[in-house]
Order: sequence, then structure tokens, then C-alpha cells
Amino acid sequence: MDRYAVFGNPVAHSKSPFIHTLFARQTLQPLTYERIEAPLGGFAAAIADFFANQGKGCNVTVPFKEEAFQLAQQLSPRAKIAGAVNTLKMTDDGVLLGDNTDGAGLVQDLKFHGIQLQERRILLLGAGGAARGAIGPLLDEHPLELTIANRTVEKAELLANIFAAAGPIRAMAFGELQGPFDLIINSTSASLSGAIPTISADLIHPHIAVYDMMYGQGDTPFNAWARKLGAQKIMDGLGMLVAQAAESFAIWRGIRPGTKQVISELRRNLGMR
Ligand code: ATR
Repeated sequence: MDRYAVFGNPVAHSKSPFIHTLFARQTLQPLTYERIEAPLGGFAAAIADFFANQGKGCNVTVPFKEEAFQLAQQLSPRAKIAGAVNTLKMTDDGVLLGDNTDGAGLVQDLKFHGIQLQERRILLLGAGGAARGAIGPLLDEHPLELTIANRTVEKAELLANIFAAAGPIRAMAFGELQGPFDLIINSTSASLSGAIPTISADLIHPHIAVYDMMYGQGDTPFNAWARKLGAQKIMDGLGMLVAQAAESFAIWRGIRPGTKQVISELRRNLGMR
């Protein structure tokens, strides 16, 4: 049977095997999907071993996305501009393709939630790998403006420069932000330590849409903060996780699985609302 996997370190927490197993069942595709914890410094060897043993494709997660970018023999335009690869595929001719489905997953999930992006003012918090993967696909939706704000403002400025030719993008420090924004996306990892980016509460209004790329049981700290301030449209990153997986699955198998039921099952599995 064709073999697929997610590579990371650590990887025990990854929901990808659960998601792809449901996709395979739904689309009647005969495949296996496993977790592989590659040792730090041993990613290239683990990948070589996998593709020498019935491996057809894999997802790549923290901390190997940049290494996967280096390893790929051919890159999609969106992987090239993201500087990171989360999806590898071995072609029948033995070429290792690298793609990045994270940003497309975000945009698809925002649309799934009925959020309009065209002509909207979008604020993206954070300037790490997650932000970088999101910027290209967000600009492709023709927002009125995309503001990148980061605790370390120099990193936001660097990203704004990289993407300057792709659309109306600017960088700002948290303290300089002035609304109104129609959508705030939190791509920072602040939630992992129970923190939230230190932006002004004045940016939150009842009609703003709030999206945290993180997810967990109940609201993330950022979403809880926004909800308390009166935001009504609040979303977490679980849908993005499933949508980026669906995009990877389509690259590997040429068939696009539906995400709705998988999102519900995953939420139920996590014991979430
Ligand atoms: P990822 O790949 O998930 O984006 P990363 O590249 O390590 O991870 O980036 C983490 C992001 O979260 C950065 O933008 C970081 O801000 P700095 O560049 O200033 O470090 C942001 N971040 C992490 N903890 C934060 C906190 N407590 N408050 C605000 N931003 C935080």
C-alpha cells in the first residue's frame, strides 16, 4: 500500500494521521499514514529512508519545514515565497516536489467561515514561519491592505519588504496600530505560554472577525480576550489544520476530500465545543 507520513520532532501530538485516515476512508483511497519522529539533525536521512520504502508523500512540521525546503528538488511558487515546505511528494519519475499548503488552508478556512477578504483591511499578528506562509495566499485575495505587526518589529519589516511586490503590505509595531481592521489573524505562538500579543483593546469592535491559528479546548487566550471585548465572529485554527491537510491530500492523490465532517469529528475527538 502507498505510504504517507508526517515528520516532526516532537510529533506525538500531531492530528495529521487522524485527519488523513478519515480522508482516505471518505475518498476510498488505499493508503497508510503514520507519524515519524526524525532526530534533530537526521531529517534528510529519515526522508531518504522513507521514500526508499514505499513512501509516496509526507507532511513536514516543526522544526523541519525549512530543511524540507532545502531538500525538495522542485518547489511550487507558493513554497518558494514562503521559504518553507510542509508537503513533499515523490513523482513517478523520482523527483521530490516541495509545496506549502498552510496559507491556502488558512484562506480556505476563512472562506468556509464566510469571511470576505477582498477589499478588506487585514491585520496579521506575528512574523514567524506561520505568518510568512500566510502572506502570499492572503495577498492573492486582494485585500485593501495587509498590516503585519510583530513584537519584534524588524521581523515584520523584513516580511513586508519580501512581499512588497505582491500587494498592499506594511509593517507596524504593536503599539502603533490604528484601526479600523475588518479581520485580525493571530499567527503568534503567544498562546502556547498563555500570553496574548500586547495590542490595544480599542482595535476590537463587534463587527471585526478574529482568527487564531492556534486551537485547543475552548477559546485560545487571544480569542477569549477578543470575545470579552465584544467580538462576535471568532474562529480558531482547527479548520485551517484540516484544510491544509486536504490540500496536501489533493496534491498526492489527485482527489480533494471534503473537510466539514472531518472538522466536526476532530473537534469531537478533542472534546471541544
Ligand atoms: P511559527 O513558525 O509558529 O510562526 P516562530 O517562527 O517561532 O513560530 O514565530 C513565533 C511568532 O510568535 C513570532 O512572531 C513571535 O514574536 P517575536 O518575533 O517578537 O519573537 C511571536 N510570539 C511568541 N510569543 C509571543 C508573545 N508572548 N507575545 C507576542 N508575540 C509572541
